[in-house]
Amino acid sequence: MDRPSIAVVGVGAMGGALASGLLRAGWTPEEITLVEAYEPRAAEMRAATGCRTVAGADEGIRRQEVVVLAVKPQDIAPALAQLAGVMTPDQVLVALVAGVPISVYERSLAGVPVVRTMPNTPALIGEGITACAPGAYAEARHMALALTVLAAVGEVEEVEESMLDAVTAVSGSGPAYAYLLAEAMVAEGVRQGLDPDTALRLAARTIEGAGAMMAASEESPAELRRKVASPGGTTAAALAVMDRAGFTGVVGNAVEAAAERSRQLGAEAAGRKL
Ligand SMILES: NC(=O)c1ccc[n+]([C@@H]2O[C@H](COP(=O)([O-])OP(=O)(O)OC[C@H]3O[C@@H](n4cnc5c(N)ncnc54)[C@H](OP(=O)(O)O)[C@@H]3O)[C@@H](O)[C@H]2O)c1
Repeated sequence: MDRPSIAVVGVGAMGGALASGLLRAGWTPEEITLVEAYEPRAAEMRAATGCRTVAGADEGIRRQEVVVLAVKPQDIAPALAQLAGVMTPDQVLVALVAGVPISVYERSLAGVPVVRTMPNTPALIGEGITACAPGAYAEARHMALALTVLAAVGEVEEVEESMLDAVTAVSGSGPAYAYLLAEAMVAEGVRQGLDPDTALRLAARTIEGAGAMMAASEESPAELRRKVASPGGTTAAALAVMDRAGFTGVVGNAVEAAAERSRQLGAEAAGRKL
């Protein structure tokens, strides 16, 4: 697919990462417009990307095929007010805003195709996974545009909007679970005599390598785990402790709590007067 022209509204961590990813993926600076009212940040982004920056949404987004909205949920009302009256149904809104339901955008932007997404922070280094869900006016061609754009910062999965709370709990919040596991591995590695830097390199690369194995292998995580854990061995000793402590149940409860919190935040966002 040809590279669509893109406006990014909200050039913070996620919007900035996406702009950088798009440039890495072959977009030219002329094809990307950054909407940023705060001039020092705009100047920084111009220097970093070579893209044009504009202070207000109007002039920035009028001719762009895809408008990416990457503001914090609490800033959604003024951002939507800017987009309403400027965006038209021949454009696509790709919303990276956590928790805000598609219905909120569709209420403000009559007939505009909306694709709601849940990225995760490894997007900052092009290693993210983003789930995206189509709104009522988003046809296959709009989804294709959104997927093309989001693929610049990692892998993309298409889901129903009702699945986004589960996605948030698994991959949106998920990097933090891996960091916690790494923290615990490093702390005990240091107690066992490793220096902290070496322990961190060992833990980080191990988690990365295990992720790559899961992605590359036909086998399930359970099968891969059983293969590492020979009876009576060191891994089996570790897994037995995890099992006795209810590790699987704790992680399950944690993911459930994240999904529940995501539902609450979504309900609050849907009920907020915009
Ligand atoms: N970072 C993550 O890990 C992550 C993961 C999943 C989803 N998300 C979602 O991605 C979205 C963006 O998060 P972030 O971490 O990138 O936040 P961020 O770093 O705070 O970036 C948001 C940016 O939007 C700008 N902004 C606010 N209102 C605007 C408006 N009306 N027009 C133009 N720009 C505006 C902000 O500018 P000012 O600073 O000047 O207000 C800021 O630069 C959030 O909804 C978040 O939930 C983030």
